[in-house]
Amino acid sequence: MANARARTQSGAAKAAGSQPSRRTFQPGALWFDNHGVHINAHGGGVLYHDGIYFWFGEHKIAGTAGNRAQIGVHVYSSSDLYNWRDEGIALAVSDDTKSEIVRGCILERPKVIFNPRTKKFVMWFHLEPFGHGYASARSGVAVADKPTGPYTFLRSFRPNAGVWPQNISTKLRKPLTRKELARLEQLDLPGGAVPYYPKDLLFRRDFAGGQMARDMTLFVDDDGHAYHIYASEENGALHISRLSRDFLSPTGKFVRIFPGRFHEAPALMKWHGKYFLFSSDCTGCEPNAARLSVAENIFGPWEELGNPCIGPGDQAANTFNSQSTFILPVQGKRDAFIFMADSWRPENAIDGRYVWLPIEFHRGVPVIAWHDHWDLNFFNKESK
Ligand code: GAL
Repeated sequence: MANARARTQSGAAKAAGSQPSRRTFQPGALWFDNHGVHINAHGGGVLYHDGIYFWFGEHKIAGTAGNRAQIGVHVYSSSDLYNWRDEGIALAVSDDTKSEIVRGCILERPKVIFNPRTKKFVMWFHLEPFGHGYASARSGVAVADKPTGPYTFLRSFRPNAGVWPQNISTKLRKPLTRKELARLEQLDLPGGAVPYYPKDLLFRRDFAGGQMARDMTLFVDDDGHAYHIYASEENGALHISRLSRDFLSPTGKFVRIFPGRFHEAPALMKWHGKYFLFSSDCTGCEPNAARLSVAENIFGPWEELGNPCIGPGDQAANTFNSQSTFILPVQGKRDAFIFMADSWRPENAIDGRYVWLPIEFHRGVPVIAWHDHWDLNFFNKESK
């Protein structure tokens, strides 16, 4: 079993003093940290700060209990992207049953950005407080003075309460009528595509209390504005929401995109002035076909381009058995971006694998092909 293997390797590595240095990426394989333990940073993202990469992700334990947060957010550091040093738990879950991040809550897809004005490291994540399944759909925010933490949990909320999305017509800028609410309450909305999905009701229902926010990412634009991109409206639409100058809250300037299309696992990059958004369909931990969308303005209009994965048979149709989590810009190289994705193992969550693949550009559009192994020289070859 993978865990037994991880332990064996760990013993060998300790005897040798450290792990042998890696020089390649092996998508989907076990990936050992400096202690010889499989990296535990699922649904993660990477921050580059002062010459070091920091990889943050969900720490998962063995078995199905690992699908809930038992430990917190794990962080690793690296200067070469192949070899990662365990920096411990950046944000720990709490043992206080009154805490919103009590052990056993659902805390997913953490992302960290640095705020140059406050000099704080700011973490956002999807939070489902204990005991309500995925119904709460909240955003959590934590801060730290150092990239590796410890992070202090500030609060959780549903974003953009009391403001309308910028890109909706005047006729939709009104809370639900009693009749519409009654109609909505009749519907069984499972968080995935259903033909009766009511495209224009949920964001109006949630106007006062704030918008649902599940799978998410953060993105800092060249002009210093930061954005929170999250699956909202029972996963039926994505929202792109600008953050305040301190990155701790939404400004209220936001748009909803692709209502009724059910995108999740958003990951954003900018290339030659265009924004490219990678995402997935909503099929839980089961892989599906990735989606790529493009816009010239982050607030849209956005256009769906289809599946960016190329290759034979099922491989491309199921995103190489994975689901997007982040697009990592490689420092010091032109046109160099890594597609980071998770291959979930919900029956033994700790054994989830990381699929990192290089993004290629075909006629101005990012595409992703499978590589059993590859290294950063790929980008020298492919740079145009
Ligand atoms: C996926 C989602 C993950 C996690 C998982 C739980 O759809 O992208 O972040 O929530 O479901 O089953």
